[in-house]
Amino acid sequence: MAKKRASQIIRRNTLRATLLSVTKAAGKVIRDGLKREVKIQYKGEINLVTEIDRQSEDLIVKTIRSRFPEHGIIAEEGSLLESRSPYRWIIDPLDGTTNYAHRFPFFCVSIGLEFEGEMCLGVVYNPVLAELFFAERGKGATLNGKPIGVSPTSSLSQALLVTGFAYDCRVTKENNMNHFSDFTLQSQGVRRTGSAALDLSYVACGRFDGFWERRLNPWDVAAGSLLVREAGGEVSSFSGDRFRVDSKEILASNGKIHHAMISVLHPRA
Ligand code: IPD
Ligand code: CA
Ligand code: CA
Repeated sequence: MAKKRASQIIRRNTLRATLLSVTKAAGKVIRDGLKREVKIQYKGEINLVTEIDRQSEDLIVKTIRSRFPEHGIIAEEGSLLESRSPYRWIIDPLDGTTNYAHRFPFFCVSIGLEFEGEMCLGVVYNPVLAELFFAERGKGATLNGKPIGVSPTSSLSQALLVTGFAYDCRVTKENNMNHFSDFTLQSQGVRRTGSAALDLSYVACGRFDGFWERRLNPWDVAAGSLLVREAGGEVSSFSGDRFRVDSKEILASNGKIHHAMISVLHPRA
């Protein structure tokens, strides 16, 4: 029994160390890319991808595959490794690509590790500000090693919120414009930063009080959702139902304004 426990601890330490080192290495690739021209392609009308997104993903995926060949992997730029392993790495190699392409310095690397369908480790790293947000299931959340917690704001009218718009916002009716306008009128303000993973990290450390967005992918929210929960916040669907990384809609808050946000997003709930 003691032997099994010891090997679990060693395994967890190895996973954590790999997660942190590969995230920092990817952050360096992203930071270095700022010093030169980068090639940009279009995945959709307004959906960009740069050569740095791909380089960052290659580095992360190669490292994980070499250390944990049996683990599952899903990453935004196409890396997919289906597996029977209880572990699955969920990777956004560069969250905030539009910002990056425009040299607006707000982007990050975001990596979550799932165990038996639950997020167990998550990291979000902003290489420009050198801010590393980290969470481990049941052990809290940190920013550059110091514990963080959600804000104490208890009223929507005093809350600073953040949201985002999916790349198909020109063609779908679910384009978030109604909610954006409703929350703008009911809160202290709504921001749009262009990086969902940093939005969630900022809820976790109390800079924002709440975040909502529709049509996101697992890599946008895997690490950030764990950060918010481990920092004492709440994460759900718009109606307050259980959140899963493939839910496609997310409401994350400090918990105190959660119900008020549900009343705006899902008025009959
Ligand atoms: C995007 C960002 C943005 C959000 C979009 C995402 P990407 O991810 O997180 O904030 O509004 O919905 O797709 O493309 O920069 O990795
Ligand atoms: Ca993303
Ligand atoms: Ca991305």
